Amino acid sequence: MPGYELVGQEELAEIQDVFAHGGVLFRHGFDALRNGCYKVRDFEQAFGHAIGAPHALAVCSGTAALRVALAALGIGPGDEVITQSFTFVATVEAIIESGATLVCAEIYTTFNLDPADLEKRITPRTRAVIAVHMLGTPARLPEISELCRKHGLVLIEDTAWGCGGNLQGTSLGTWGDIGTFSFDFAKTMTTGEGGMVVFKDRATYEKAAAWHDHGHENNPKVPRWEDTRASSGFNFRMMELQGAVGLAQLKKLPGVVTAQRANRDRILDAVRDIPGITPRTVPDGAYDTADALVLLVFDKQRALRCREQLLAGGLATKILPEAYTWHFAGTWSHMPELVNAHGGDLANAFPASRALLERAVSLPVGVRMDDSVPGRVRTALQKALAA
Ligand SMILES: Cc1ncc(COP(=O)(O)O)c(C=O)c1O
Repeated sequence: MPGYELVGQEELAEIQDVFAHGGVLFRHGFDALRNGCYKVRDFEQAFGHAIGAPHALAVCSGTAALRVALAALGIGPGDEVITQSFTFVATVEAIIESGATLVCAEIYTTFNLDPADLEKRITPRTRAVIAVHMLGTPARLPEISELCRKHGLVLIEDTAWGCGGNLQGTSLGTWGDIGTFSFDFAKTMTTGEGGMVVFKDRATYEKAAAWHDHGHENNPKVPRWEDTRASSGFNFRMMELQGAVGLAQLKKLPGVVTAQRANRDRILDAVRDIPGITPRTVPDGAYDTADALVLLVFDKQRALRCREQLLAGGLATKILPEAYTWHFAGTWSHMPELVNAHGGDLANAFPASRALLERAVSLPVGVRMDDSVPGRVRTALQKALAA
């Protein structure tokens, strides 16, 4: 979770700085009024530097980040894009919105893309793969990158939950060609609403920068109202106040992830010996963001009992088992693109993913955790699994 737990004086000071320099809220131009204050630009540079990405573009949401990434790659009708069946609707909305054909693959015990199932779904029309680091645990990036290389596909990492994590020392979001991030209110760092797209390649970054800003090239040789353009685009810009908050939150990100990992470990240590519990698989060398602790139990009935007991103990669950309808493609009957691709039968579309998700329990992890939480989680799970 929770940059939001730490929103405070530092964010306020950054916002006040915008007003102290003339109060220009737009990211471009107005140079005479802003007295050198460029918060979004500074945030992009600081973020790219922090995660080791050569080019970073701030946008207005994590959903916009995905849409901008696909646009910059020229992905559209006739192309296929593969992502995983367990993700937030935003990942597939961006694919649908691009006009490309949406393909969802199964997950396995990491709760992320299963490389074997991914390979089966690659066709001559596949252009890109979007791997999601769901609930903060890295996808199996070495295998997925290798598959993308072998089949000539672009790898996009949806790093909405993985901001601040790494795999084998390389930041999540920088393994692939493009990484997308969300700074909505529930993420490891937040700007209220906001997102970032990071790129290995300068030419793709330039296309994205223009596309997210109506095609503006922000040509320094001409004023903005006479700006040059090579394509049309849209408006997915970030505003200065979000950039200001982002600068303050970025400084807190390492501390957020360290605290979440410690708190996740305290809960896990308290429950790991309870019979019938298996923690989610984590790839070797993962420094996950520990946004949630995901546990597998024997069956759906027991997962529901765990939820009941956790709620009765004044605790919460996160997404699993109760809210998976927003996060599992097998339930998205409101998306004709997906329903038609599976002959109208979504219920049987992703059997391996469904079998895992139905018997999973996910516990939210925060920065500030009351010392009583691990013991209360233990009591609740013991009660639920006793029978
Ligand atoms: C996996 C994933 N991708 C993308 C998004 C979209 O981010 P935003 O809410 O910033 O649009 C989310 C939001 O929760 C997400 O969980």
